[in-house]
Amino acid sequence: MRERLEMLKQEAVAAISEATRLEELRDIRVRYLGKKGELTSVLRGMGSLPPEERPVIGGVANEVRQVLESRLQEKEAWLEEAALEERLASERIDVTLPGMNPATGSLHPLNLVLEQIEDIFTGLGFQVAEGPEVEVDRYNFEALNLPKDHPARDMQDSFYITPEILLRTHTSPVQVRVMESREGTVPIRIICPGKVYRRDDDDATHSHQFTQIEGLMVDTHVSMSELHGVLLAFIEQMFGAGTEMRLRPSYFPFTEPSVEVDIFHPEKGWVEILGAGMVHPRVLERAGYDPEQVSGFAFGMGAERIAMLKYGIDDIRHFYNNDLRFLRQFRSE
Ligand code: PHE
Repeated sequence: MRERLEMLKQEAVAAISEATRLEELRDIRVRYLGKKGELTSVLRGMGSLPPEERPVIGGVANEVRQVLESRLQEKEAWLEEAALEERLASERIDVTLPGMNPATGSLHPLNLVLEQIEDIFTGLGFQVAEGPEVEVDRYNFEALNLPKDHPARDMQDSFYITPEILLRTHTSPVQVRVMESREGTVPIRIICPGKVYRRDDDDATHSHQFTQIEGLMVDTHVSMSELHGVLLAFIEQMFGAGTEMRLRPSYFPFTEPSVEVDIFHPEKGWVEILGAGMVHPRVLERAGYDPEQVSGFAFGMGAERIAMLKYGIDDIRHFYNNDLRFLRQFRSE
């Protein structure tokens, strides 16, 4: 019996040292030390031994069990460590590899100035309003004091869809829509950004589609000096503190008096940037306001022109060609 135990021990020790995987160790443990394992079955045969030999064999069997147990544990720890090391090696990352640069987009320069303009005017208490690009003649012209036979319609050569429906030639129809929706209440302080369309031949300074921002303020006692103050605040924030501004008399059918507004540009001298004026009493009246009680000012500017002056862009067509070499220059703005 002693020899059997000795053999069993050697066999098991050899199996443990040859094992290369944790599962194998588990099988070995079951095979030798498990309930139906070989050591257990040897011990079961102890009943047939003479009583004086039993403690001796029992001692040997116990020793075998202890040896196997400790070998198993050693090998288990060793295999676990090896597995961990292998995993660490396979998961190692090389922090010196050059990284991947995800392509980042940027705002289109037009959206950039629109956002700035909206920020400035919302800071002055204005709200942003929008209106349709396909407009009815009544809002685009008639309600703005431009009846069908008015010669000033020629100032805005139009894309007609039907005799009564056209692509809006300016953002001024949004003034009328907002006034109508406010049903005679004041104050109104809005700006309306959006696309407008005119039958122009495209060149460096003209485009059949461009972007305007309309402004409108209606309240009791709104005067020309408020228009001046608001525009100066805008211009100084847009083009820098101390930028000079001047108003020149002009004509628009929907404002009276009307002005054109110039700023002094360090390279170009005086340049026109927008049209403005006091809302014509007839426009107020048609939109449901009493010109005896309230007054207002309005202005309209081209976003492209503002962007061109601010960023030194020399051709309006750059805005629409989607040339990445142009667009990428506005990344850091
Ligand atoms: N709608 C005018 C244009 O497109 C600009 C303007 C708006 C002028 C409001 C005066 C008041 O030319």
